[in-house]
Amino acid sequence: MIKEQEYVPYANLHERNNAKNKLIGVILKRNNPNRDNIISYVEKFAKEKEYCIILDYVSDEKEILESIKKLVGKRVSGLIIDSKQNIHYKNFDKLSVYINGTKNFEEKEKVCFYYRLFSASKLATEIFIKYGHKKIACIVNENDISIVEGYKNIMQEADNELDPLWIYLGKNIEDIEQYGIQQCISKGVTAIICGSKEIALCIYKFAKKIGINIPDNLSILVIGDDVILKLLDDGVSAIELPILDICASTVNTLIDLIEKKEEKELKKEFYPKFINRNSIKKPSQNNQGKKIIVVGSLNIDTTIEVSRIPINGETQLAESIKEFPGGKGGNQAVGAGKLNGNVYILGCLGNDIGGKQIYHSLSENHVHMNGIIFDDILSSGKAYINIDKNGESTIVVYSGANKKLNVNHINQYRYLFKNAKFCLLSMEISNEIIKYTINLCKQYNVQVMLKPSAVDKISDDILKDIDYFIPNEKELNQLVISGNNIEKKSEILLNAGVKNIIVTLGKKGCFLYNNNYKKYFEGSGFQAIDTTGGADSFISTLAVYLSEGKHLLESIAYAVYASGLTVSRYGVQPALPDRNLLEIYKDEIYLKYKIFEEE
Ligand code: RIB
Repeated sequence: MIKEQEYVPYANLHERNNAKNKLIGVILKRNNPNRDNIISYVEKFAKEKEYCIILDYVSDEKEILESIKKLVGKRVSGLIIDSKQNIHYKNFDKLSVYINGTKNFEEKEKVCFYYRLFSASKLATEIFIKYGHKKIACIVNENDISIVEGYKNIMQEADNELDPLWIYLGKNIEDIEQYGIQQCISKGVTAIICGSKEIALCIYKFAKKIGINIPDNLSILVIGDDVILKLLDDGVSAIELPILDICASTVNTLIDLIEKKEEKELKKEFYPKFINRNSIKKPSQNNQGKKIIVVGSLNIDTTIEVSRIPINGETQLAESIKEFPGGKGGNQAVGAGKLNGNVYILGCLGNDIGGKQIYHSLSENHVHMNGIIFDDILSSGKAYINIDKNGESTIVVYSGANKKLNVNHINQYRYLFKNAKFCLLSMEISNEIIKYTINLCKQYNVQVMLKPSAVDKISDDILKDIDYFIPNEKELNQLVISGNNIEKKSEILLNAGVKNIIVTLGKKGCFLYNNNYKKYFEGSGFQAIDTTGGADSFISTLAVYLSEGKHLLESIAYAVYASGLTVSRYGVQPALPDRNLLEIYKDEIYLKYKIFEEE
């Protein structure tokens, strides 16, 4: 009976003596993203008026009535309720203030203070548009659909294109991290509205991994401010929800209702505001070239310095041993990344320390890493490189995890080939992949650059689809038996359908043969101390400069210099020049190769 009737001993006496319990009941939804802020602000304002709060969480609207009864049983004087609906319970109808943050808020017959997430995302979209963004994505949790509605509303008002793949409604943060961010970024958006700080954190992590700079290449704006956003990177801009103002009005109004027994019919919408930190910029006038895709080997190179490369049956003592991340694919990708190329790699690493080193070297040199997979069984590829006193080298490669790169993997990332300009292929991966990738390139109109290492023969049906064939002299001699000099042999390749043959000639430079040119380029003149990766450097430079629309002769001239710089230092990836270093030689390059006169 006591329980059913909610009997409180001496309740009337308390009432008569006006011995009020100075207690406010707060009922919040468990999944309210602002609940921590609401609790601390409500507590602060209540305390200022000498009230305490008692808190109860509910999972959904249905549990609210039970929660009200429970708190009333604890003799609260009034209630703050996070609910869309108006819930009736005895005389507490007049002692309740509602607080909310949705669009579909039932405002009738109640005292309520609220904001609309809809207004917050409208504001965010307007800000991005003001900055000049057009390709704007919106990534939210599936409960926050009103954020998407506000975003769509402004995008439509502004007559902006709206690709459905720019919107991602995630089931949870893992889903967003795994699929949502990649989906939007691969659509080339320049700005993202994040439905929560957690989403923003995942985007920062992803951007770092694939070498996207925020805000230079991607602007970020978060719905709902938080102290973590002040601390992250150089500060993340946010739309601050008016939680503080709402809590102040809610508490003060409720206490007025409790103490003066005034009947108040009050409702008010509060508006979000923009907090500008350092995560928004105008969309960059992208001066990066078109997309370059590298499909190739990833190795850890053990570089052994010897006075002379050992011959059969001979034992040599090493003068030094060094380890570097390498592999032809890895070197070409890093080379392009260092020169500011828009480069993607497809490759397979072992799940070991070497794999992590290679991964780190690629990602820190701005290579997009979407296409990397890890194999749990085989170790990362390894290359054992002997270098003699003249810097000449021989290489033995153990493929390891590179063997696990397969056609399905390439197919999974075929979307990367769309709008790409070049695909760089080297032959330390299976023939099947080479053929499959070349076919894919044909479908997507991507030009193929092939470095024919570690092969004795290349079939004519591969050659006819090669746009740039880049052997060294030894490789050329091995592949083309007939013809007694470089020019003759190159001509045979040209007749087989190759569009451009560029034979790299070490310190002597290179030779270009195509339908327009038959031309030698003299060497750069740098002293070689480790020739490993000279060709990788040449190829990546050629691809980057061509991808920016530079003339073929100019691109080759830069490639000769980049390769010269690379071989003048030990290792490959640490030795590859970056853009600033290479551009120092611009005048010398133009003068030496008479770039303007030839074009
Ligand atoms: O071209 C040089 C590369 O060939 C080395 O880094 C080594 O790993 C081998 O793949």
